[in-house]
Amino acid sequence: MALAKTKSVFSESFLDPSNIPQHIAVIMDGNRRWAKEHHLPVWEGHRKGAESLKQIVESCGDLGVKVLTAYAFSKENWKRSKEEIEIILHLFDFYLRKERENLYRAGVRFRVIGHPQEMGEKLQAEFKKTEEYTAENSKLLLNLAVNYGGRTEMLDAVKKISQKVKNGELELSQIDENLISDHLYTAGVPDPDLLIRTSGELRISNFLLWQMAYAEFWFTPLLWPDFKKADLVKAIADYQGRSRRLGGS
Ligand code: FPP
Repeated sequence: MALAKTKSVFSESFLDPSNIPQHIAVIMDGNRRWAKEHHLPVWEGHRKGAESLKQIVESCGDLGVKVLTAYAFSKENWKRSKEEIEIILHLFDFYLRKERENLYRAGVRFRVIGHPQEMGEKLQAEFKKTEEYTAENSKLLLNLAVNYGGRTEMLDAVKKISQKVKNGELELSQIDENLISDHLYTAGVPDPDLLIRTSGELRISNFLLWQMAYAEFWFTPLLWPDFKKADLVKAIADYQGRSRRLGGS
């Protein structure tokens, strides 16, 4: 597939409102390369990345997407320098405080998936506060994946299920695909219909491994800070042109 680095002129009137993906997953990649290209410090790339996420949350709400799951910090991201990790954690804290009220007013329900408990008590408290503050909202569910790994998520599910079998709460014969889905961090949420990854990388990077079984993939060379509503519309338009057989004929 040729990935042309062109500016998108797509508007939402291109879209079929009856076929909007219910759940979009995004791998927000390219913040550091964006900073480098603009001769700016790394933190400015991540700050622009956070601004981009803000726009895309708003756009998903406008377009009628029901769930957006954004990969904000992977388990592998701990390998980055201490300074960069501090910048990212500070940005989470800053944006949670700054945007909590806006999320609430926009009807967005905020949830964290992953292992936020390993990200410090202060940040964990901000996550919890935002989750509780927006808990009754239903326009859009924003899942922020932090300290997240898809294999760890499956491992956690296996442990939870095994414990229930051990306690006699579950029979082996009751374990099926639905039961596994119900023990993932995304329990109760429909699987992603569309995965968007920016920055030209063509891989899944341990993101929502179980849930992505039938997702459509859309890749763009645009760096995450440059990803705008028109690009989201372009991705959805492309999705709408695909034939989703979901394993059938
Ligand atoms: C990807 O670009 C971004 C990250 C690994 C994490 C940071 C994400 C954000 C700041 C957006 C979300 C923010 C908030 C506040 C919710 P990269 O650093 O991998 O860039 P590269 O691919 O160019 O190296």
